[in-house]
Amino acid sequence: PRKIIIDTDPGQDDAVAILLALASPQEIEVLGLTCVAGNVPLALTALNARKVCELAGKPEVKVFAGCDRPLGRALVTAEHVHGKTGLDGPDLPVPQMPLQDQHAVDFIIDTLRAAPPKTVTLCPLGPLTNIAMAFEKAPDIVERVQEIVLMGGAYFEVGNITPAAEFNIYVDPQAAHIVFSSGAPLVVMPLDVTHKALVTTPRNEAFRALGTPAGVAVAQMTDFFERFDKEKYGSAGAPLHDPCVTAYLLAPEIFSGRHINVEIETASELTLGMTVADWWRVTDRAPNALFIGDLDADAFFSLLTERLARL
Ligand code: BDR
Ligand code: CA
Repeated sequence: PRKIIIDTDPGQDDAVAILLALASPQEIEVLGLTCVAGNVPLALTALNARKVCELAGKPEVKVFAGCDRPLGRALVTAEHVHGKTGLDGPDLPVPQMPLQDQHAVDFIIDTLRAAPPKTVTLCPLGPLTNIAMAFEKAPDIVERVQEIVLMGGAYFEVGNITPAAEFNIYVDPQAAHIVFSSGAPLVVMPLDVTHKALVTTPRNEAFRALGTPAGVAVAQMTDFFERFDKEKYGSAGAPLHDPCVTAYLLAPEIFSGRHINVEIETASELTLGMTVADWWRVTDRAPNALFIGDLDADAFFSLLTERLARL
């Protein structure tokens, strides 16, 4: 199986991404979950990550707490989308499993140094603070990364937290800049693709019909998560942003995109955190990312439902 570290700020869609990975041990080995402040403050993301592991029946997964604020600015959170707990919807029990003592950034560094080069993939689902901190603290690990597959940014779909920026990148643009200019191989799931991974009513009913704790909880999470997008964008269902990352590891053939240059705006007040994606290749800046634009949504939801059934 492919070894991964999931860096996350759960978040209902983070939770579904984690469940998908934990349901797929033949293809994916989750070395650890590293938590970051994002959708809600760090104490809650670290709590929610453990709730999700226990929901999956995997209390042995190592969960680490990382950075509690972005590199150079105050934390912006998204309770307006995810609810006060960050994981509103299901009523999950207080987790019994421990939080690891080690700092998430040190876990990322040690894991990459201990593993053979290019055998560990990083899967960031939140602001890129932990990853950037690890790269700054231990630049030698950058070339040891197999690939970074992350959720963040937008191009045609522009912004969901400001008119120009997607939430994960906006929260810590400085960290995003460090990661996007690091030279590590990058696959990016922007809003352009995640806004096509919509939980319509029949898809939601398919989760609930699994009748398992995980299936029912995912149905409740996506029910809650949907309210915001429906009101705001009139969208046909909740976009499952973060699960695009773990689904890509399982079935890359259902996604398509372009190898292009993507730069992060870190200075402008108006467009802070914008992912300036050279989709039409109008510059001669070297490509640094596979920027995904489309997916086969039916294949994505069949895969997700079939895997959740295994938990
Ligand atoms: C991203 O922001 C968060 O609210 C979601 O969990 C996802 O990672 C979407 O913009
Ligand atoms: Ca997230």
